[in-house]
Amino acid sequence: MGFPAGFMWGGASAANQCEGGIFEGGRGPANVDVCPSGADRHAVITGHRKMLRMDGEHRYPAAEAVDFYHRFREDIRLFGEMGFRTYRMSIAWTRIFPKGDEEYPSEEGLRFYDQVFAECRKYGIRPLVTISHFDCPIHLIEAYGGWRDRRMIECYLRLCRVLFERYRGQVRHWLTFNEINMILHAPFMGAGLCFEEGENEEQIKYQAAHHELVASALAVKLAHEIDPENQVGCMFAAGAAYPYSCRPEDVWEALLTDQENYFFVDVQARGAYPAYAVKRLQKKGVYPVMEKGDEEILGTYPVDFISFSYYNSRCIASEEQESAEGNLFRSAKNPYLKFSEWGWPIDPLGLRITLNQVYDRYQKPLFVVENGLGALDHPDETGYVEDDYRIDYLREHICAMKAAVEEDGVDLMGYTSWAPIDLISAGTGEMKKRYGFVYVDKQEDGSGTLNRTRKKSFYWYRKVIETNGEVL
Ligand code: BG6
Repeated sequence: MGFPAGFMWGGASAANQCEGGIFEGGRGPANVDVCPSGADRHAVITGHRKMLRMDGEHRYPAAEAVDFYHRFREDIRLFGEMGFRTYRMSIAWTRIFPKGDEEYPSEEGLRFYDQVFAECRKYGIRPLVTISHFDCPIHLIEAYGGWRDRRMIECYLRLCRVLFERYRGQVRHWLTFNEINMILHAPFMGAGLCFEEGENEEQIKYQAAHHELVASALAVKLAHEIDPENQVGCMFAAGAAYPYSCRPEDVWEALLTDQENYFFVDVQARGAYPAYAVKRLQKKGVYPVMEKGDEEILGTYPVDFISFSYYNSRCIASEEQESAEGNLFRSAKNPYLKFSEWGWPIDPLGLRITLNQVYDRYQKPLFVVENGLGALDHPDETGYVEDDYRIDYLREHICAMKAAVEEDGVDLMGYTSWAPIDLISAGTGEMKKRYGFVYVDKQEDGSGTLNRTRKKSFYWYRKVIETNGEVL
């Protein structure tokens, strides 16, 4: 009983939030580089303030991030020490194709990931690779307008082919797009979209989503052709939507919220636009242009497994209520929950509920590829952090996950917590919002030695993995 043997324990990160080194190794500029920290970040990541170059007035935290680009050996050694069986990481698209539409990839970029995978191998860590984690080359935004243009599919597939061929046998698990539903909430970060005054934003977002969905299905096809052992998953930002009350209007609104998110997975896992989406898009006057053959592509190449991030549940009211934050989605404040320092609800049972809902809906293996607590850490003079609050959060979520496996029969492949090491926040660009088992001496103003120190949670998680989740 408990977690199955071979359960893939580990941690998850994204290139743009940990690598840094954006001017090195021939890497080209990307959307994620020009998302500043501070008050303007929201307007930039939502596509309402066009910022395609760095300026002298803002700070750009991805530029150095936590310097994984130079310190990956040390970091992966620490992951090995915790006993990781998998490390979820992403590829910086512009290390491989600096502009995004070149014919040939950059050997230097490919060599960087060769080294990263070799390092993982040393410790028996299997990489789980997100092909695009909020990553879009600036050149493709300038030349095509990002994913609003169908030509993006070809550029993305060129990247996929190079990765599948080069890392054949070294990487078996792939995710096509990180949090694909984030395109609706942070369209510049999710799909390189910038909006002009008066544009129909919904139309553009769903058009871009359609392109990503077709690209994702074709990536599944390609991955299987290149290596039948490849397993490809989709990835969405999950979190069950609870009705604020049993008032039918609240229940209805909650259902609509869930459907808005499930739409993406319905297409990627079941292979077709669901009826509710077709009707609602029509009602909104949104008609994504589809080419002949798209439906067949979507229907023929569904994903092998479904992965998601879970930070919190959502609470949906049909009338105005006090609101709460949460992973770029605002919802009503759930009076039964506690909240993190960033105002995100903390709801471990919500993870069990979400796992059940997703499994009931798709009947495919699931993978929790993000879950964690962003908190202010207070290190002692050696950098050690006594982060019992993080341990409590993770313990409760792992317990909920265990119950879903043990008592509800959910088929779960693994769990990669966000994040194994402190890194830059995607939502706010802050450094002080820390998630890691390893403290990084990098401060909000960019100062610090970048030294790594194991936190209390490091030793705790090591035990969790060693006992396959028996000792929590
Ligand atoms: C998910 C993203 O949205 O949540 C990660 O996939 C992100 O990239 C994580 O870092 C946590 O959000 P935040 O805003 O606290 O970094």
